[in-house]
Amino acid sequence: MSFNEGLDELITCRLDHVRRAVEPCTIVIFGASGDLTARKLIPALYHLFKDKQMPPDFRIVGFARREKTDASWRGELHEALTQFSRSKPVDETVWSAFAAKVHYCVGDISDAAAYQKLAGLIGSFSSAPLRQNLLFYLATMPSQFGMAAEYLHSVKLLHRGGEQGWQRLVIEKPFGHDLASASALNHELTRFAHEQQVFRIDHYLGKETVQNILTFRFSNSIFERLWNRDAVDHIQITVSEKLGVGGRGGYYEEAGALRDMVQNHILQVLALVTMEPPVSLDAEPIRDEKVKVLSAICRFQPDEVARRVVRGQYTAGSVGGESRGAYREEVKVDPRSNVETFVALKLFVDNWRWAGVPIYLRTGKALPISASEVRVQFKPTPNVLFAAQCGTRLDANALTLRLQPNEGISLRFNGKVPGVGYGLRPVRMHFGYDAEFGAYTSEAYERLLLDAMGGDATLFIRRDEVEQAWQIVDSIRAGWDGVGLDDREFYAAGSWGPRLAHELLAQSGHAWREPQLIK
Ligand code: BG6
Repeated sequence: MSFNEGLDELITCRLDHVRRAVEPCTIVIFGASGDLTARKLIPALYHLFKDKQMPPDFRIVGFARREKTDASWRGELHEALTQFSRSKPVDETVWSAFAAKVHYCVGDISDAAAYQKLAGLIGSFSSAPLRQNLLFYLATMPSQFGMAAEYLHSVKLLHRGGEQGWQRLVIEKPFGHDLASASALNHELTRFAHEQQVFRIDHYLGKETVQNILTFRFSNSIFERLWNRDAVDHIQITVSEKLGVGGRGGYYEEAGALRDMVQNHILQVLALVTMEPPVSLDAEPIRDEKVKVLSAICRFQPDEVARRVVRGQYTAGSVGGESRGAYREEVKVDPRSNVETFVALKLFVDNWRWAGVPIYLRTGKALPISASEVRVQFKPTPNVLFAAQCGTRLDANALTLRLQPNEGISLRFNGKVPGVGYGLRPVRMHFGYDAEFGAYTSEAYERLLLDAMGGDATLFIRRDEVEQAWQIVDSIRAGWDGVGLDDREFYAAGSWGPRLAHELLAQSGHAWREPQLIK
């Protein structure tokens, strides 16, 4: 055994024992004909089954309007799996065993009779757990979430509180379009289910690298000590995407970058980066701390929006050598649309740990690369020793958490350039998931579906988290209300957003660091 192997054995803490056993259950997918089901949900469930993570018995029921039989739906899913599975080719023996547990129920989500039919199908399953432990995955239009819950309740498939078995609702985003609609939806859902039965999904929380933020912060003493306003100069979170809006123009016209990415994924990452240590790793203490830090984020006054938030929309350009049309030319997009495809903002967390530390967030479509990362930049040293070599500004230390791709963490610090002179240069220490743990394969949806079946809500968003996030987003939208985009807010596809986004940081002597794709 090598030294490292021995070390691994000594220090690897296995937390698997805390994972609850997953009981036999039925998963009902509303919106079964949709993209999410084919691309993410079925591949995730198939892989869980292949990896022997699914409960000892289960059924999957697809519920949608299109006429299909069990056999024809299974055929479609097999095709989708061939395309979207993370491990190819599809293992046909595993698939046959999996497909035998997959059923289809034709029905309109707004038709009471369809729920009777669904109840009939579920009632025909052979064992009580398959009939009583029910996970309803609502991958449908948000306006239908409440209605589906009500109908499920009326046919006794959804009980508020578990008299028999358990029933849970998994809710896809968008969870409302502002605070008022999110609160109304929360209210509606909790008429038919307890908050503990509602699992609001944010697939960023299913990513290994996002889960690693808490592990990294709270299992290492050297960084946590510096994780505060005394040592941190500022924080940058970038979630950039090369893709435009593609076929999702209709949805995106209602959402925009702020609602699509900031309200959920980016504020969740920010909460994990800035929250206080929870008292335990259970769902509620973690979510309590996230709520606390979200509530400490200063809401934007209307006049601050113009100073601290930049929005943008892509025009024609070229991304990675491929020419791209403008957002306004995308399918189902208004040719005079003022919807933002880019947003950059500066905020403050007004609490003891972070007061006065600028936190910059940015996200956009049609940017030069797809990359998500968090950069914590530390305060510079008093540069009394090296001013002659490097001028007044020495490169400051920075820690970058690369969420995707090239998952890993890098620490940047200054080193002496070898030689007789005294040159200084920033260098990096890297930790890469690939090198350390081998090819990393599991998908966010696998983890999230397994947790939802097991009743572990840690990686799901609680009602008050959603509401806090909407308060922040609404305070920005209030400053945009009725104000169209001006020329300075457009950016060419393939650039890093409007110039204004760079000026936002320059005002405080900062600059965006573009994510590096490490080879
Ligand atoms: C989704 C957004 O929630 O996240 C999409 O609706 C976005 O617009 C996607 O492209 C990004 O997810 P990922 O995992 O590819 O970073």
